[in-house]
Amino acid sequence: MKYWNKGDKTEEFVYNNSEVKRKLDESSTRMLFKKLLRWDVINDNISMIEFAAGVGRITKNVFQKLKFIKSIDLLEPAIAFKTKLEEIKKSNNKIENIFMMTGEKFVFKKKYDIIFGQYFLENISDFELLSFLIKARDNLTPNGKIIFRENVVQHMYIIRDTTQMHQRVRSIDIFNFFFKIAGLTVVNESIPENKIPIDTDYTFYEIVLKKENFA
Ligand SMILES: C[S@@+](CC[C@H](N)C(=O)[O-])C[C@H]1O[C@@H](n2cnc3c(N)ncnc32)[C@H](O)[C@@H]1O
Repeated sequence: MKYWNKGDKTEEFVYNNSEVKRKLDESSTRMLFKKLLRWDVINDNISMIEFAAGVGRITKNVFQKLKFIKSIDLLEPAIAFKTKLEEIKKSNNKIENIFMMTGEKFVFKKKYDIIFGQYFLENISDFELLSFLIKARDNLTPNGKIIFRENVVQHMYIIRDTTQMHQRVRSIDIFNFFFKIAGLTVVNESIPENKIPIDTDYTFYEIVLKKENFA
């Protein structure tokens, strides 16, 4: 957390100062949500929560503009982003609550149609990942989905420990193992159509999960 709280964090900072990457990333999130609606994987009139919302750029630039999303709660632990998130809330009428805490400490107060996180899971340990998945599974509405957009590596996982970030980038096999033990079924796992240029060691994945029928 120290890393995210240091300095003046802007939208540009969060996306490595690359406007091109940021726009590609946001358009692929938009495309994913529209595709899931077209495929009837998600419903109209969605209530959702975004974990690790950062400066709130995805909600501001994507979710706020998607008509089928009705309400959004945001969770972000870095106090450095608080003012920015509050500013965004003032001009975005779909945002209902901002929770300033880590995803692992969060206690759900209601169920959501979509539980979303992007570059979120790399910040939590394996133990926290498993307990988060179970908690999220139990707080989905009947047709609810969990959606993650994350960097993945090819084998096992690597710990990236630069500039105090201490992140875990996992392989898709490791993720699938945790999804299985958490009682979640993979609905879709794919690489975005407009492939975002990222570090060559990683692939960027979009993952859609639902509660296993018997979980
Ligand atoms: C690369 S930024 C991504 C922000 C946002 N998802 C986006 O794509 O613009 C990673 C975010 O994860 C947040 N974060 C770090 N540890 C976290 C945790 N344990 N729970 C929730 N969020 C966390 C950081 O504060 C930071 O805002």
